[in-house]
Amino acid sequence: MSRILVTGAAGAVGSLIRPRLARPGRTLRLLDLVPLDPGEGEEAVQASVTDADAMRAACEGVDAVIHLGGISLEAPWERILDVNIHGTYTVFEAARRAGVARVVFASSNHVVGYRTPAEYPLTADTPPLPDTYYGVSKATGEALGALYHHRYGLDVICVRIMTCFAEPPNPRALSTWLSPDDCARLLEACLAVEKPGYRIVYGVSPNTRGGWVSLDEARALGYAPADDAEVHADAVHAAHGRPAHDDPVFAYLGGPFTFPDLDADRL
Ligand SMILES: NC(=O)c1ccc[n+]([C@@H]2O[C@H](COP(=O)([O-])OP(=O)(O)OC[C@H]3O[C@@H](n4cnc5c(N)ncnc54)[C@H](O)[C@@H]3O)[C@@H](O)[C@H]2O)c1
Repeated sequence: MSRILVTGAAGAVGSLIRPRLARPGRTLRLLDLVPLDPGEGEEAVQASVTDADAMRAACEGVDAVIHLGGISLEAPWERILDVNIHGTYTVFEAARRAGVARVVFASSNHVVGYRTPAEYPLTADTPPLPDTYYGVSKATGEALGALYHHRYGLDVICVRIMTCFAEPPNPRALSTWLSPDDCARLLEACLAVEKPGYRIVYGVSPNTRGGWVSLDEARALGYAPADDAEVHADAVHAAHGRPAHDDPVFAYLGGPFTFPDLDADRL
């Protein structure tokens, strides 16, 4: 894959993967609402994923899209509808019209946020049970991906990212962390696998405290993860304490996104 469009490239995941996806002969076309400073092997586009004309232009000459751009937390319905749902439609439609063969969609564990530990490990076949409007937008993005695969033949891989930051940010993430290197390994697998069709996979490292979601679907793409949040456990517990097993944060997969105070009307 020689030219890859990355939407939301200025965000947390985009910043972590930029250096890790760099390859000789590959151009990363970085798109975000905010300005970006492109380095060697990079191009920058300042645009909104909701702008059909800008997205169509950004998709020209591109082999694959990694769609990260949008709202990454709970927000009022109108914003989620515009940026995450209409924006994701706009990305798929622009990719189709420009002849882009593959879209990797940053979905989320919050598609299945109200699933409980009794159901673990969740698989790609576990039906959606979103915990927020945000989770609904990711379930909708997955459905749009299925439509664009079945109707138009795009290869679409939806990665239900668990928790991807430089280090696990809290005790829950000792179970859900996707290390930056594993994230890049997974995205490379998504780009390299031949004829994936339409897939849903979980994006997570093989953490000692994991097992909440299946890694089988991601491994079937060729993902060979190497990291484990456990190496950060002492530091995380020193910073945040050690929650009991019956702490509400462990009641549902979505953790704090299921808490009453995260209701969008209260934000
Ligand atoms: N980081 C995680 O742990 C995690 C977990 C699950 C899913 N995800 C998903 O992965 C993607 C990246 O997550 P992140 O943590 O980097 O989020 P982030 O909030 O750090 O970055 C999102 C980026 O999207 C950009 N953006 C917002 N609205 C836009 C628009 N209209 N047009 C273009 N760009 C826009 C923002 O400027 C920002 O740079 C998101 O789709 C998020 O929902 C992330």
